[in-house]
Amino acid sequence: MTNDPLTTPAIALGTWAWGDSGEAGDGYFGSRLTESGLREVAEKAMAGGLTLWDTATVYGMGRSEKALARALRGFDRSSYQLSTKFTPQIVGDGDDPVADALEQSLANLGTDYIDLYWIHNPADVERWTPGLIPLLESGKVRHVGVSNHDVEQIQRADAILGEAGYRVEAVQNHYSLLYRSSELGGVLDHCRENGVRFFSYMVLEQGALTGRYGPKNPMPAGSSRAEAYNHVLPRLQALTDRLAALGQEQDTSAADVATAWAIAKGTTPIIGVTKPGYVDGLVRAQGVELTGEDMTELEALAEATGVDTRGSWEHEMQ
Ligand SMILES: NC(=O)c1ccc[n+]([C@@H]2O[C@H](COP(=O)([O-])OP(=O)(O)OC[C@H]3O[C@@H](n4cnc5c(N)ncnc54)[C@H](OP(=O)(O)O)[C@@H]3O)[C@@H](O)[C@H]2O)c1
Repeated sequence: MTNDPLTTPAIALGTWAWGDSGEAGDGYFGSRLTESGLREVAEKAMAGGLTLWDTATVYGMGRSEKALARALRGFDRSSYQLSTKFTPQIVGDGDDPVADALEQSLANLGTDYIDLYWIHNPADVERWTPGLIPLLESGKVRHVGVSNHDVEQIQRADAILGEAGYRVEAVQNHYSLLYRSSELGGVLDHCRENGVRFFSYMVLEQGALTGRYGPKNPMPAGSSRAEAYNHVLPRLQALTDRLAALGQEQDTSAADVATAWAIAKGTTPIIGVTKPGYVDGLVRAQGVELTGEDMTELEALAEATGVDTRGSWEHEMQ
């Protein structure tokens, strides 16, 4: 049985972009990232109390996990929490693929335990969920969660873990002003009612909700996110303008208001951090106050865009 309850900061940090090669335009994000820049991100985050780091082996096939290990080198292991994932689509052919995947993550991250280990998607709930149980029993994994699961799949995973005295302690799904499938499909309610922490990913829609990108300044050519978002950027203008205006009133940015919206919805945002300055914003985002009217207005503007940002790997939650 897990003895200590899962406790997390109000915001978690995402490192999918850290799995790119670091060359402009290359990979999923195409941002230019350097080892020294990411070290600075880590130092700022740790100083600001943002200590929960989300990654996955599949992000650059080990590159993100290894970059994270380098960025955190020298910090006491008990001062930060690591969250990484088992991705069914990249399993090896060993007898116990879940255990093998964990060992790979432990090696990449240079640690002997993972604070929060996820099944990345519901490719086969019956087949993969039981593999978490021995990892919990061994102590190599402290807590477990499921990602991209709908309510029925969460309940099934919970029942499988429950037979061994464990439970789904967290859910991690796409959730942003532009993509509220988990809210409409009852996942948020399920989590609230059952004391399960809901982590929202792609809250900034990979930069599209920050106001930084627009028709005149598109996402890096050649990157996957450019393909996913550049054609919808003109339709997001009214929304990002309002986010920016609300941010200005509280001395912060559009991105931080989008993050504050996700917090106000009772979720823990996982924000992809690529620059040290973004960390300052996340510290501010925790103090941003949004009225009921602000929330309603932002959601109406988001709805009016008519933009669907469902990822190619995702299924609707209702
Ligand atoms: N479980 C899953 O299936 C799943 C799927 C997707 C993501 N995730 C997790 O969730 C995390 C977050 O998602 P994401 O990284 O894909 O997207 P995101 O958090 O929506 O957006 C991250 C991007 O937004 C820009 N950004 C971040 N902070 C900013 C700020 N303050 N001001 C302006 N721009 C800012 C950066 O782009 P620039 O570098 O261009 O500035 C960054 O790469 C991932 O890193 C990953 O850990 C999980």
